[in-house]
Amino acid sequence: MFVIHQLVLLSSLVLSILASNLEHDSSVTIRLQHALKFEKNPTWTDRGNITIHSLRTGQVEVDQNELKPDEQRLLSDLSARNSYYQVKSIVLSKDGTERTFISTVKACMLVESDLDDRLSVSLDYMGRVVGVSLVVASSSACEGVIVPRETLQYFNTVVFVRHSEDGPNPDVASFIQKIEKEKEAKEKGETKDNRSFLAKYWMYIVPLLIFMAISSAANPEAQQGQ
Ligand SMILES: *[C@@H]1O[C@H](CO)[C@@H](O)[C@H](O)[C@H]1NC(C)=O
Ligand SMILES: *[C@@H]1O[C@H](CO)[C@@H](O)[C@H](O)[C@H]1NC(C)=O
Repeated sequence: MFVIHQLVLLSSLVLSILASNLEHDSSVTIRLQHALKFEKNPTWTDRGNITIHSLRTGQVEVDQNELKPDEQRLLSDLSARNSYYQVKSIVLSKDGTERTFISTVKACMLVESDLDDRLSVSLDYMGRVVGVSLVVASSSACEGVIVPRETLQYFNTVVFVRHSEDGPNPDVASFIQKIEKEKEAKEKGETKDNRSFLAKYWMYIVPLLIFMAISSAANPEAQQGQ
C-alpha cells in the first residue's frame, strides 16, 4: 500500500510539472529576412518582424517593411524566371535561444497572390518553436499572369500558431495517458471504497501467498524439523 501511495504521489508531481510548463505562457520574436535573388549563398535583407505576444492564445503583431522599387523589380524578375523566393525566420525566444528556419516558395506564386502569404509557427508540447514555414495563401498555379510591379509593395501575412497536438509526439502523449489512467484508478479507488479489503488488494496478496507457498516448499526440512 505504501508503494501505491508513492506511485500516486510521483504521478501527481510529474503531472503538475508538465501542467505548469504548458500553462506558462511566453512570447517570441521572429525576425524575417528574405532573399530576392536565388543564389547558393543568398544575401538576406530585412523583411520585418513578427511578435507573438502569447503563444497560448496566438496573439500576434506583424510589422513588415514595404518593398522598395528595386526590390519589387528583383521579385518580379524571380517570378518571370520561374525561380524561388526564400524567407529566413530567426526565432528569438524569451530564454535567449535563437533558431533559424528557411522556407522556399515559387516566386510566381507569391507574386500572383499579391504578396498574400501565411506563416505557420509550430510549437512542441513545452511551447518551444520547432518550426516556421511560409506558404502562399492563394491557389495560384503560376499561369504567367502579368502582375504590375507597383502592386508588389505590401506583404499581407497571416500568422498561425500550431500547438503540438498536430505534431508528432507519441512518447509524451502515451506517457501522459498512462499517468491519467493511474490518476483515474486512484480516483476510482477512493469512490468505490465500499469494496472489501480482499477485493481491492487481491492482486497484491495473491503473489505474496504464492511466494510463501514456494519458499515453504523449497524448505521442507525446516518445517519437518519443527
Ligand atoms: C525589426 O527588429 C529589428 C531589431 O530589433 C529592427 O532593427 C528593425 O527595425 C525591425 N523592423 C521592423 C520592420 O520593425
Ligand atoms: C458499493 O456501492 C455501490 C454504489 O455506491 C453499490 O452499487 C454496490 O453494491 C456497493 N458494493 C458493496 C460490496 O457494498
